[in-house]
Amino acid sequence: MTAIACGGGTHWQQRADVVVIGTGVAGLAAALAAHRQGKRVVVLSKAPQQEGATATFYAQGGIAVVLPRTEDSIDAHVADTVGAGGGLCDPEVVYSIVADGYRAVTELVAAGAHFDESEPGQWALTREGGHSRRRIIHAGGDATGAEVQRALDRAAELLDIRRNHVALRVLRDDAGVTGVEVLGEDGLGIVHAPAVVVATGGLGHLFGATTNPDGSTGDGIALALWAGVPVSDIEFIQFHPTMLFDGHTGGRRPLITEAIRGEGATLVDNQGHSVTAGMHPMGDLAPRDVVAAAIDARLTETGDPCVYLDATGIAGFEERFPTVTAACRAAGIDPTSERIPVVPGAHYSCGGVLTDAYGRTELPGLYAAGEVARTGMHGANRLASNSLLEGLVVGGRAGREAASHAASTGPTRGELTDRPDYHALGRAELQQGMSRHASVVRDAAGLRRLDDLLGTTRRRNPATRAGFEDIALTVTAQAVASAALARNESRGCHHRGDHPESVDTEARSTVVRLVGGSAVVEAPAAVA
Ligand code: FAD
Ligand code: SIN
Repeated sequence: MTAIACGGGTHWQQRADVVVIGTGVAGLAAALAAHRQGKRVVVLSKAPQQEGATATFYAQGGIAVVLPRTEDSIDAHVADTVGAGGGLCDPEVVYSIVADGYRAVTELVAAGAHFDESEPGQWALTREGGHSRRRIIHAGGDATGAEVQRALDRAAELLDIRRNHVALRVLRDDAGVTGVEVLGEDGLGIVHAPAVVVATGGLGHLFGATTNPDGSTGDGIALALWAGVPVSDIEFIQFHPTMLFDGHTGGRRPLITEAIRGEGATLVDNQGHSVTAGMHPMGDLAPRDVVAAAIDARLTETGDPCVYLDATGIAGFEERFPTVTAACRAAGIDPTSERIPVVPGAHYSCGGVLTDAYGRTELPGLYAAGEVARTGMHGANRLASNSLLEGLVVGGRAGREAASHAASTGPTRGELTDRPDYHALGRAELQQGMSRHASVVRDAAGLRRLDDLLGTTRRRNPATRAGFEDIALTVTAQAVASAALARNESRGCHHRGDHPESVDTEARSTVVRLVGGSAVVEAPAAVA
């Protein structure tokens, strides 16, 4: 690293062929793939340590994958994914990712990952909402993410990973990407590089309570928008039906995996009545948007603070679901003998930075993969356990694409042009506004109030990680609010109380760009 003077301050600087922002499943899959192509890769993570820093680490249910020589088929997985996606999945993208799944999982196993077996040499398969078959592999019972992360971390030990380094801005010129501006332990710096993979994960902390880790603050959405790259389908934020309700309301809350319903648990209200009866042919295993909306409706109707998951009939619960058992016990609940109190919680961003199935954005040299990206895989509502699958497959592809772009472009020099006009709301104010007006059910009046609130931001300097996150959250919230206001219908996980039905002519994706500092919804493109 060398020191340079630029933009009124001293910066360190470094060169790379490929910069990867993020150390979850998508980031490490990308970094390892680019490294295997012989490229100099620098990986950035804003977290000081890896444990618990990624959503990947917390994944419970598993990875949806079609195993060869079983009764399952790629076509069935594609049909379930498209069926859950509310008419907005791109079937070709879905096919391409699903068909590449087994290869990607095999690569992960070669890197040292172990999945649970039902008998020696045979992976145990579970089911989750919206899946017509048992096709979800898992590890450590309900600790799949920890095992995926462990295997990837081990493989990535040989990489140049910079922890405590916050990516503040993707640098670009008219031809494409030139580097990344970074806030590191040694202050501000630049990594010069012709290719950048954004793999920053989700945006759950837009809301007061979420299943996501602290770092899921929409940074990659903001980085892309500031670089002039659009985001798409960003109004579709998935609320997981079963986040533990333990009396605490803020920050990261424990997830109660859907696989428990896959093994026979039922969702009931305070009176013991089924929450989903009559809602969907798949009942408690309907896609998430349906179950979350059913719970929300029941809570509104009864005024109760939560509903319950009854898992008391599942034999061997503690061994099969050790993570959930520990979370329940920490809250004073014994899931083997008591019903588990649950509420819907902000969980997953179905939309994101607009890419193709290889992670390519419209800006040469900029790639996005994992939860931050919108490939067309999830449409208006993601099918359970399709995220780790997409992160692995598209992460690897984006890494290879970034490596070949770097090879054809050669070195670049990132210049610090004028910064975007950084504004932010206070975090508590923003989360309150989002939770009140852009949660499971929205309407135009609430979204307009939210939009007004988001117009009252104050100028902020991204001098600390938290300060930067507040700015990123604010830009991301503006994009979500604009897209949600533009979609005057209900579809997938976007439920409008004032427009409860889907409208055929609205079966198209929204595209949002920053224009003059404001999030503007472009005329949506029809889905093929
Ligand atoms: P993450 O794993 O979240 O990693 C993001 C990385 O980006 C982190 O390293 C972070 O430090 C870094 N970062 C962010 N911003 C910056 C910045 N500005 N500068 C530098 N670094 C930055 N999906 C499934 O398929 N199956 C499951 O069973 C499942 N269970 C889940 C359970 C829970 C509790 C949660 C929260 C999610 C679950 N999901 C599951 C979803 C899935 O885990 C995530 O979508 C996926 O792991 C996201 O991976 P990622 O690589 O995109 O991001
Ligand atoms: C879960 O285990 O219920 C979460 C799975 C997912 O989000 O894909």
